[in-house]
Amino acid sequence: MQNREQWGSKLGFILAASGSAVGIGNIWKFPYIAGENGGAAFTLVYLLCILVVGLTIVIAEFAIGRSTQLSPVGAFEKLAPSSNWKWVGFLGVASAFVILSFYGVVGGWILKYIFVSISGGFEALSSEPDVAKNLFVSFISSTWSPILFQIVFMTLCVYVIVNGVKDGIENWSKIMMPIIIVLLFVLAIRGLTLPGGVEGLKFLFLPRFDELTASAIVLALGHSFFTLSLGMGTMITYGSYLNKKQNLLNSALWVIALDTAIALLAGTAIFTSVFAAGADPDGGPGLIFYILPSIFPQLAYGAIWGTLFFTLLFMAALTSAISILEVVTAYFIDQKGWSRNRATIQFGAIITIVGVFCSFSMGGGINIAEYFGSSFQHYLGETFFDVMDNLSSKYMLPFGGMMTAIFILLRWGVPSFLSEFGGENLDSERNRLVVTILCFIAAGVAGFILLNELIETITGNAIIG
Ligand code: TRP
Repeated sequence: MQNREQWGSKLGFILAASGSAVGIGNIWKFPYIAGENGGAAFTLVYLLCILVVGLTIVIAEFAIGRSTQLSPVGAFEKLAPSSNWKWVGFLGVASAFVILSFYGVVGGWILKYIFVSISGGFEALSSEPDVAKNLFVSFISSTWSPILFQIVFMTLCVYVIVNGVKDGIENWSKIMMPIIIVLLFVLAIRGLTLPGGVEGLKFLFLPRFDELTASAIVLALGHSFFTLSLGMGTMITYGSYLNKKQNLLNSALWVIALDTAIALLAGTAIFTSVFAAGADPDGGPGLIFYILPSIFPQLAYGAIWGTLFFTLLFMAALTSAISILEVVTAYFIDQKGWSRNRATIQFGAIITIVGVFCSFSMGGGINIAEYFGSSFQHYLGETFFDVMDNLSSKYMLPFGGMMTAIFILLRWGVPSFLSEFGGENLDSERNRLVVTILCFIAAGVAGFILLNELIETITGNAIIG
């Protein structure tokens, strides 16, 4: 590959990779699952998962990408020629389709909420979470409006990717990541200075070990994969644009530190406001789409806070979505020799169309919606949207993560991994042992999540759940 694109700087790479990691998972999902599962008790388990399993797989993916200078399918093929390992790469490309189809829909919802907030639309929802919920549900289950916003979101995503690795992904990550961090700081400080806001901090940071069930631990494990964008080759792809000079451990530590810090900051911003307003912290998935919109108008300059919040969430979603689309684009560039434009536009469009069906499955109001919503619900117990969500986060990602760790152990080999990771001087008996143990734990843990889900799906009872 003579002309492979490269990141422009170390900082640019770290911001792009953490841009992928920091997304809807950090700002929407982490706060509510931590809040529901024991606060700091959950956070402690989550941190442990990130440090032991997450860090190992992030580094493994970076190393596979950098050593081959190829995206997942090509990377596995190069390191394990004429074997079935390339299917792990294909699974990654498939996961990208699945995840981005519904992620793009949620991206559209967030975009819509920026406009609702700017135009003062939250005013009527003040202290009325039920009214806010009705508004949200009627919006997402309407036919065309969510699709329009989804298309705008996906178009922006395509626009960034078409501009390339350095001028597109890196450039936009360098602009958006600092804005996200600054806005979250402002919102967290705003929340802390509200009367009663400190209660929110206690809710998030005081451990309640009695609420930490076994299923919460499985949840923490699964979420550590999703939040770090692992298990589908995103980090392999981003790693493939790295040169040999970059220190992988150091970069990976930055990525997980930023990802975790932003999740905790988001939790602080959200729960301080929730407690100050006396709202329900157990809002679950609805926390940001109906509890918060009913709280913002109670604050002075509420429309501004609301707009800032949804803007930062939008940026976080966009930097993640581009990392997912890049996996598909890079596959068609590396393996099929397509141009970046052609791959991105063509597959951006196809994924958007799959996403349209996810959106229709929320209610939609036209015949096809009936099929994707209630028929899926009838046969699978969930809508097409949920199928795509669960298929990826419960099965495909843990499987991909498990295979990546097994690949290092059984095929690529710990010594080759170590020499990619840090050159000759790292390859000692002791380091081999440490890496072997970590990969073993990572594979075991990912395998366990997978098994647990499979058993639950088949028998209705999980081992843990
Ligand atoms: N990590 C992102 C989030 O927290 C989502 C994401 C981006 C992702 N790329 C991914 C998840 C690849 C799994 C795999 O929202």
